[in-house]
Amino acid sequence: MLRSAFAAAYAIAYLVGGERRMLRLIRRYGPIMTMPILSLGDVAIVSDPRLAKEVFTAPADVLLGGEGVGPAAAIYGAGSMFVQEEPEHLRRRKLLTPALHGAALSSYVPIMQDSARAAMRSWPVDRPFEMLTAARALMLDVIVKVIFGVDDPDEVRRLGAPFERLLNLGVSEQLTVRYALRHAGALRVWPQRSQANRDIDRAVMPLIAQRRNDPRLSERLDILALLMCARGDDGERLSDSEIRDDLITLMLAGHETTATTLAWVFDLLLHHPDALRRVRAEAVSGEEAFTTAVINETLRIRPPAPFTARVVAQPFPVGGYRVDPGTRIVIHIIAINRNPATYQRPNEFRPERFLDARPETYAWVPFGGGIKRCLGASFTMRELTTVLHVLLREGDFSAVDEAPERIVRRSIMLAPRYGTRVRFRPASSSS
Ligand code: HEM
Repeated sequence: MLRSAFAAAYAIAYLVGGERRMLRLIRRYGPIMTMPILSLGDVAIVSDPRLAKEVFTAPADVLLGGEGVGPAAAIYGAGSMFVQEEPEHLRRRKLLTPALHGAALSSYVPIMQDSARAAMRSWPVDRPFEMLTAARALMLDVIVKVIFGVDDPDEVRRLGAPFERLLNLGVSEQLTVRYALRHAGALRVWPQRSQANRDIDRAVMPLIAQRRNDPRLSERLDILALLMCARGDDGERLSDSEIRDDLITLMLAGHETTATTLAWVFDLLLHHPDALRRVRAEAVSGEEAFTTAVINETLRIRPPAPFTARVVAQPFPVGGYRVDPGTRIVIHIIAINRNPATYQRPNEFRPERFLDARPETYAWVPFGGGIKRCLGASFTMRELTTVLHVLLREGDFSAVDEAPERIVRRSIMLAPRYGTRVRFRPASSSS
C-alpha cells in the first residue's frame, strides 16, 4: 500500500480543489492508496469499480457507513439516519423509503412542473444569469413543497428559510475549517448552526403537532404526512424529533445536489447542440430515454459529490491489501466514473453510451452504493427529467460562455466555476 511523500501532493491537490491533478495522481498510483489527510486521519482511496464493489458490499460491522460520512454530522446532526450505524440506520431508512419511491414519487410531478414554470416566470429575459443560483431557488421550492405539502408562497418561504440557512452553512468553507478544528471545539460552539437549528424547530415542531390533530392526515401526500403515518415492522412510529431529523436530512441531501446537477446538465447540453435538440424533442414527445441517458452521463462526468466513505471497524482485505481498523476508506466517485477501463473516451460527454445500456452498478457511482446508496436517486431522476422537460419545452436557452465550465470544489460539492451562465427567453409557442 502506498504511503509516501505523494500523500502530501494529494492532500494539497484536494485542498486546492484541483480535480484534474487529483485524477492524475490516482491514475499514477493505482486503484488503492493510503495516506494521512489533515483532519481525517489515515485515509485509503479507492478508485476502481472492482474494489468499490468490495467496499460497498462489505458487512456493516466491518465497514461503518455512518462513521464513514461522519463529518456530515456536523451539519446534519447526530440524530440523522445518514450518520447512524446498523441496525438503527436501516430501521430509519426503511421508514423513509416509501416517501421517495413509487406512487409518492408520481404525486410530486405536478409540483415539480409548477415550480419550474414559476421559476421561469421570475427569470430575466435575454439577460445572462447563473443557472446554478436559479436552480438552487427552483429546487428549494420543489423540496419544500414536496416535504411539507404547502403551496402558499409565503408559507413556502417561511418553512424554507431556516433550512436554507443551515444549507448555506453546509456548503460554506466554514464547515471544512470547523471540521478540521473540531478538537478545539469549533463544532460544539457554532452559534449560526445552533440558531438555524432552533429556527427549524420553531417552524417544524408546531407543524407536526398541528398535523397530528388533522383527521385527514392519512390522505395527505406530502413527505411529512407519509413519515408521520409510517409504521415499522412491529408497528412502531417515528418520534417527532426523528421526523424533524429526517426532514433536515432530506433538505440537506436533496437540494444542493440536484440544483448543482441541473446546472451541469444545462452547461453540457448548451455546449452540445445535438444532444440539446434530442432532449428538446423528448420534452415535446414525452419520451425519456435520451434525457435519462443525458442525466446519467452528466452524473458520470460531473458528479456533484466527489466521494463518499466508510470507516474500517475490523481488518479489511481489499485489492490484495489489508486495511487497518480506524482507516477511512474513501470511494473516489469521479475517478471510478471516469475509469478508462470501463469507458471509452472517459472524459467526454457522450450520452449515447447510456442509450441502450444501464450504467453498471459499481462503475457508475454518483449515488454511492450498498445499504447506504442514495435514497433519493429515483427522486432525483424524476425531478431532473420533469424540470428539464418543462424548461426546455417552454423556454429557449443559450450559453453565455463559449466553452463548458471548469469544475471547482465548493465546500463538499463539485460545481461549475461561474455557475453556468445562460441566456433565456420564453419559447415562442408558450409566450
Ligand atoms: C444529484 C442528486 C444526488 C446525488 C448525486 C446524491 C448523492 C448521494 C451520495 C453519494 C450519498 C452517499 C451514498 C453512500 O455513501 O454510499 C447519498 C446519500 C443519501 N441521499 Fe443523496 N444524492 C442526490 C440527491 C438526493 C435527494 C434528492 C435526496 C432526497 C430527497 C437524497 C437523499 C439521500 C439520503 C437520505 C441519503 C442517505 C442514505 C443512507 O444513509 O442510507 N439524495 N446521496
